[in-house]
This record gives sequence, structure tokens and C-alpha cells, in this order.
Amino acid sequence: MERFKNKIALVTGSSQGIGEACALRLAKEGADIILNGRTFDERGEELINEIKAMGRRAEFLEADVSKTKEVIKLVEDAINVFGSLDILVNNAGLETKADFWDVTEEDYDLVMDTNLKGVFFGIKTFVNYCRKEKRQGAVINMSSVHEEIVFPHFAAYCASKGGLKMLTRNLASELAPLGIRVNNVAPGAITTPINKDLLENKEQLEKVIGNIPLRRMGTVEDVAGVVAFLASDEAAYVTGSTYYVDGGLTYHYEEQ
Ligand code: NAI
Repeated sequence: MERFKNKIALVTGSSQGIGEACALRLAKEGADIILNGRTFDERGEELINEIKAMGRRAEFLEADVSKTKEVIKLVEDAINVFGSLDILVNNAGLETKADFWDVTEEDYDLVMDTNLKGVFFGIKTFVNYCRKEKRQGAVINMSSVHEEIVFPHFAAYCASKGGLKMLTRNLASELAPLGIRVNNVAPGAITTPINKDLLENKEQLEKVIGNIPLRRMGTVEDVAGVVAFLASDEAAYVTGSTYYVDGGLTYHYEEQ
């Protein structure tokens, strides 16, 4: 299947976890890929080689997406690398855990600037390019089940993903006349480094899995498959939606 032949995609935060899987999946289906991370590490280099081995082009651009100037430059540079850009996957994100009464302004800013502000200005840069070049585009934002359900001790994270929910709804409406689709993917509990502590705590892990109707953690490939669908023309009539990849967690009802 070559759904992304002649397409170019930028995936932020793509040297591990879900972002890495999205980059590989889009490349496998024909896309040239611009990878991103704050620093170009060994894994970034390996990924470039893996993608090139598939017969695609790949480049890694360093940028901290929590810094407005850097995220704008990232998208501009991504457009210049291979001459255009069709798909923007805003995946980079982080969470910090603290009781609400202990959250510092630094923690709040870090989470909001990475998960929401960076996404906002990244999309803005992409949209202005699409307007100038009269091109269509697909934007996929990596949200979370916590755009919808609560997560005590992660107030800033929930605020950022809740903001992403409305950003996507709003932009879908405003950008539809330009042929730009915007959707969210909301992972549940996925096996990635972000969940290191959980994965190392057997008891806690069993509890989490017990609350997931499909009774397992999600894989990065589970998420990447949905991202690929939303980025593709098969989702041509899908915009302003959130696709949950959560094993049924979000709307789970425990029968008594
Ligand atoms: P991860 O921690 O394994 O990967 C995140 C990647 O983003 C890393 O490569 C990291 O270096 C990069 N990143 C973080 N801040 C950055 C910045 N300022 N600039 C550039 N890159 C930056 O996490 P994972 O699990 O792959 O998460 C990816 C996305 O999925 C995040 O937005 C996260 O909130 C979301 N998500 C993950 C879930 C999970 O269970 N793993 C559940 C729900 C949402």
C-alpha cells in the first residue's frame, strides 16, 4: 500500500515512542519524512537509515517545539528540506506529575508550551504555507484520552490536551475552506518511555490493564495505524474529530 507516494510529512518528537512509530508507518506507505527532536541522537540517525532503506528520503531537524521561534523555524525548514509539506503530525508532548497545589509556573509553562502553544504556532506556520502555495494539507495532533477524562495530579497536562481538543474543533471549521483537515488522535495507555514508571510497577500496571476493556496496553503501532488513516485520502471526509486509540478506556462502563 502506497497511500503516501509523493507526500512529505513532518513528525515532531519522532526519535522514540509514538512519534517514531508514526514516522516509520508513514514512510512504509510511501512518504518522505522529516524527523524532529530537541537533539539529533543516535536513534535519530538509525531512523534516517531505516527510512532510507525503505527507498524514502529522510532528514532530522533539531528544534524545541515549546519555543515559538523554534517551532516556526522547524516548519519553515521542513518545507524547504524536500520542497513541500503535506502532512504535519504534532506528536511531541510531555507530562509532569504533581499535586495541583504544588504545580510551579515553570512546570505549567513547560507542559502548556510543548503540548499546546507549540502545536498552535506550528499549525499556523503550516497553514500560511498552504495558503500561499494554494495547497491542501492534513494535520494530526497527538492528544490524549485526557482531552476528555480526568487525570488527578496532571492538571496542566489535562489543560493542554483539553485545549488541543478545542483547537482542533475550531481549526477544522476555519480551515476546511482551504482544504486543510485537522484531527486528533487520543491514545490511552501505550507502551512507551513516557510510561516507564507504570511499566516497572507490576501491581499498578495490572490495575491499569484491568480498567481497559481490551485488557492490554496499546502499542505504538496501534496509534500509528490510526494516524496514517487520518493523514490519508481515505479520511478525506474526516475533520475536527478525535479518534481514540485506548482499548475502550475512555467510555468504559464497569458492569456491577
Ligand atoms: P515519549 O516521551 O516516548 O516521546 C515523546 C517525544 O517527544 C520524545 O522523543 C521527546 O524527546 C519529544 N519531545 C518532548 N518535548 C519536546 C520538545 N519540546 N521539542 C521537541 N521534541 C520534544 O512519549 P510518547 O508516549 O511517545 O508520547 C507522544 C505523544 O503521545 C505525547 O504528545 C503524549 O502526550 C501522547 N500520549 C501518550 C500516551 C502514552 O500512553 N504513551 C497516552 C496519551 C497521549
